[in-house]
Amino acid sequence: MDWQERYVNGDTPWDKNAPAPAINQISLQKPALLSPGRKVLVPGCGYGYDALALAELGLDVTGLDIAELALQKASTLTPDNLSVEWLAADAFQLPASRHHRYDMVWEHTFLCAIAPEMREEYVKAMWRYLKPNGCLLGVFFTNPDMAPGEGPPYKIPRLEIIELMGSLFTLEWETEPTEHYPGREGREHIMLFRRLSSCCE
Ligand SMILES: C[S@@+](CC[C@H](N)C(=O)[O-])C[C@H]1O[C@@H](n2cnc3c(N)ncnc32)[C@H](O)[C@@H]1O
Repeated sequence: MDWQERYVNGDTPWDKNAPAPAINQISLQKPALLSPGRKVLVPGCGYGYDALALAELGLDVTGLDIAELALQKASTLTPDNLSVEWLAADAFQLPASRHHRYDMVWEHTFLCAIAPEMREEYVKAMWRYLKPNGCLLGVFFTNPDMAPGEGPPYKIPRLEIIELMGSLFTLEWETEPTEHYPGREGREHIMLFRRLSSCCE
């Protein structure tokens, strides 16, 4: 998929012009996860609404996307009083200087956007970027049976996510979102995976 071209053509049906509502819910239910100063990586951040919402909560955020055009807009949306690092790069190829650097990865509509053959690499890459005992927290698109042309390119249900992550992470907490974008009611699931110490370098 040529993501830059999709942004050039305005072909971005995933864009909701607002952060994932689950961020608000998590900040109320599990405030320690989103406490100020934590270093968080947001892979596939798109226009950066989630990254900006996390930065507003005081987290130290890197918004990462392969599409430079998305990050250009994210940059223009960034208020002067907020500091977010916008990084144009392939989420599977970050250099060693980025390894073991983050307390948390925020996942939202990235895993379901990558080809299934890249999923194991996703788990390994996120493991590499996290500090020991870091976590991957996200709102996963687990029930994407929608009308043709809608929904994510590569659906992945809850049990498959748990099985996939299980090689290098353990599921620590999960809950149903109480707040959604319109149309995503009953289709999402919040999950927190803790990084295991097993080596995948
Ligand atoms: C479905 S969109 C979701 C964007 C954003 N999370 C949102 O919900 O608005 C997937 C995003 O992943 C980005 N992406 C796809 N492959 C990538 C890769 N290998 N590295 C970094 N970003 C990638 C795309 O450019 C796109 O912005």
